[in-house]
Amino acid sequence: MTGIVGLGSYVPEIVVTNADLEKILDTSDEWIKTRTGILERRFASKDQATSDLAVIAAERALKDANVSADEIDLIIVGTNSPDTLYPATACLVQDKIGARNAAAFDLQAGCTGWVYAATVGAQCIESGMYKHVLVIGAEVITRMMDNTDRGTYVLFGDGAGAAVLSSVSRGGFLASELYADGSLAQHLVFPAGGTRKPFSEEVLRERAYFTKMDGSDVFKFSVREISRVSMKVLEKAQLPLDRVDWFIPHQANLRIIQAGAQKLGIPMEKVVVTIDKYGNSSSASIPVALDEVYRKGVLKNGDTVLMVSFGAGMTSGGILMEWWR
Ligand SMILES: CC(C)(COP(=O)(O)OP(=O)(O)OC[C@H]1O[C@@H](n2cnc3c(N)ncnc32)[C@H](O)[C@@H]1OP(=O)(O)O)[C@@H](O)C(=O)NCCC(=O)NCCS
Repeated sequence: MTGIVGLGSYVPEIVVTNADLEKILDTSDEWIKTRTGILERRFASKDQATSDLAVIAAERALKDANVSADEIDLIIVGTNSPDTLYPATACLVQDKIGARNAAAFDLQAGCTGWVYAATVGAQCIESGMYKHVLVIGAEVITRMMDNTDRGTYVLFGDGAGAAVLSSVSRGGFLASELYADGSLAQHLVFPAGGTRKPFSEEVLRERAYFTKMDGSDVFKFSVREISRVSMKVLEKAQLPLDRVDWFIPHQANLRIIQAGAQKLGIPMEKVVVTIDKYGNSSSASIPVALDEVYRKGVLKNGDTVLMVSFGAGMTSGGILMEWWR
């Protein structure tokens, strides 16, 4: 079986509160709190790009795993906010941490990026191709948001989480599932900078170099997918829902988390919530939340953890794992 043998995360030091956003947008602390559950979020400093956050999380995960950088065979960075369109942020991370024997690529699957990366990484180990795979979810996603659009700007935060995957003798990944529905792609788009709409004066005029989102369509998709994907993963592992000790959904909106948990019948005591402190850190949200419960010491050997995400694409996916360290 493949499992997580080391975890690490990093959130930038700059805290942006709802009161800070009230100063630049027509919004209020009350609206943000009640509609999203977010109290504050972290913003990367001007000199930090996604690879800088990823490197800190990666180094923490390597230390925790007691695996050296040159033992890593593959680095996958799940991100929607790479340092540059190319080269891959994973290659920058490979160089900065000195993982000279590792292959490296980015994986873009919306906020489901880390769940996709961990699933693909685990398959590379299961197949016998690689021994140690570093899977990272890292984002400076706030830089892709329009600070004049109250419908998106208040929701997001920056961060990075990383896990070292290896073969394990106890526990590990019990099942995972990945999904995509490209017919819904238009609901969450970063329009400019690709080959469809290269940068131009028109792009600047339309502010197409920022994320565009249909909030309520994404909301409906997310609630539906949280429960559907959770049941699919549990079915695959042939485990009943009441065996789940920890439920870690993607942190996009507290109301989505609560509605998903309620639909499933998972009590909120089992649900890991970090959105109040970090907002939606996209691909980083699940590994950051997982690392938090791990560092708090509340995650016990033998615990069953269900991680489910959804995002641009639209994508969704889940991993069920038995925790052993
Ligand atoms: C974006 C989101 C918080 C909006 O909440 P909502 O309850 O659906 O609110 P609506 O979009 O229906 O907007 C209600 C009103 O609030 C307003 N509003 C939106 N953002 C606001 C803000 N930050 N402050 C104050 N008012 C705001 C809207 O303009 C709208 O006003 P109107 O009725 O005068 O047009 C919610 O739809 C959501 O979380 N969607 C999912 C987003 C997501 O998860 N994205 C990432 C996926 S990985």
